[in-house]
Amino acid sequence: MKYRYAVVGYGFIGRRHVATLKSIDNVDCVAVCDTNPQRLEEVREIYPEIEIYRTIDQLLEESDINGVIISANNNQHKELVIKSARAGMDIICEKPAAMSVAEFDEMMEAVDQAGVTLTVHQQRRFDKDFQTIKKCYEDRSLGDVYTIKSSLYGYNGNMHDWHVYKSEGGGMLYDWGVHLIDQILYMMDSPLKAVFADIRNVINKEVDDYFNILLRFENGVTAEIELGTYYLSDQKDWFERHWYMGGNTGSMYANKFDPEGKIVRTTKLLENVNEDQDKSAKSYGPTRSFGVPEPGLIVTEDIPKVETEHIEFFENYFATLAGKAELLVKPQEVRKVLEVMEACWKSAETFSSVAFEPSMEVKV
Ligand SMILES: NC(=O)c1ccc[n+]([C@@H]2O[C@H](COP(=O)([O-])OP(=O)(O)OC[C@H]3O[C@@H](n4cnc5c(N)ncnc54)[C@H](O)[C@@H]3O)[C@@H](O)[C@H]2O)c1
Repeated sequence: MKYRYAVVGYGFIGRRHVATLKSIDNVDCVAVCDTNPQRLEEVREIYPEIEIYRTIDQLLEESDINGVIISANNNQHKELVIKSARAGMDIICEKPAAMSVAEFDEMMEAVDQAGVTLTVHQQRRFDKDFQTIKKCYEDRSLGDVYTIKSSLYGYNGNMHDWHVYKSEGGGMLYDWGVHLIDQILYMMDSPLKAVFADIRNVINKEVDDYFNILLRFENGVTAEIELGTYYLSDQKDWFERHWYMGGNTGSMYANKFDPEGKIVRTTKLLENVNEDQDKSAKSYGPTRSFGVPEPGLIVTEDIPKVETEHIEFFENYFATLAGKAELLVKPQEVRKVLEVMEACWKSAETFSSVAFEPSMEVKV
């Protein structure tokens, strides 16, 4: 069977969705819907064979399609998903799926009633940097992990278009926050117990452009997620991605999306370190923890190389529709990310940590 899909919202990511659908065997992009006529003109010029529509109603009424990718502004997702589900479409929705858990529950009600499939484009589960950290965590390369730091900084300060308006679903927690939280929850094999968040509008009037989130898991791991779009530096790169993970048999760092980093260990444990108490106490202070390591104490290993590509998200989705795979990004996982985001907002407003209890499971 050839899947005939439409892309709803032909902007930054919608353009990529059309190209991606056209690159997959047994799948085609046969229609595009956008409220902006200029965007539709662009489609007509590049892809004369693709049908174009100004409204979702017209698309669903007139086009012969099996499914849709919703890639319009965040505040449009609820209506577009509900209408598509009622028309019997299988749906890939862009992240964040909804503006709130309540909105997502309404969307899932329509999806469940129609018996269609809904997933959310969390393709950053296939980022190489993340997959490298995940592999080391799962392989216990660092022993018992106690801390993970995932950070992303941009140095030019700008946000654009609707991303600066609250009513459209702007702000960085809705934007990158969804990916960064999803990655940590996807990797963790333990219940989340508490959330603390500092969320700021540093240079934007309406929406957040900085956040620092702490997620405390039952197994003792604390994950810190920090993002800033106005986190200025004179670095050469304008986009900085960093990971740090610490365990009781080593640490690791990984920088950039195609990660460069090391696993770092000590050759001796603390009880074996230099017995010349007097000398080390004078040079390094009473704990001696922050002194210059003796030669040979610190050793490094290369981080593993993980081959992974974003296209795997779509491969999994279409294999799921064909009954050959299990859906990777499940509605209950999407809902949990939204719940964590709501806990973040509550924490930031109240200056306190929020105990986390997932409120309900969503049927897949
Ligand atoms: N997964 C990712 O990595 C990723 C990356 C970028 C954007 N996104 C998500 O994709 C969505 C779009 O973001 P973008 O940066 O491409 O935005 P964009 O502004 O570049 O494009 C959005 C398009 O949707 C159209 N649109 C708005 N309302 C519509 C409606 N009711 N019906 C049809 N078309 C409508 C707009 O005219 C515009 O052309 C957002 O939800 C965003 O969070 C995801």
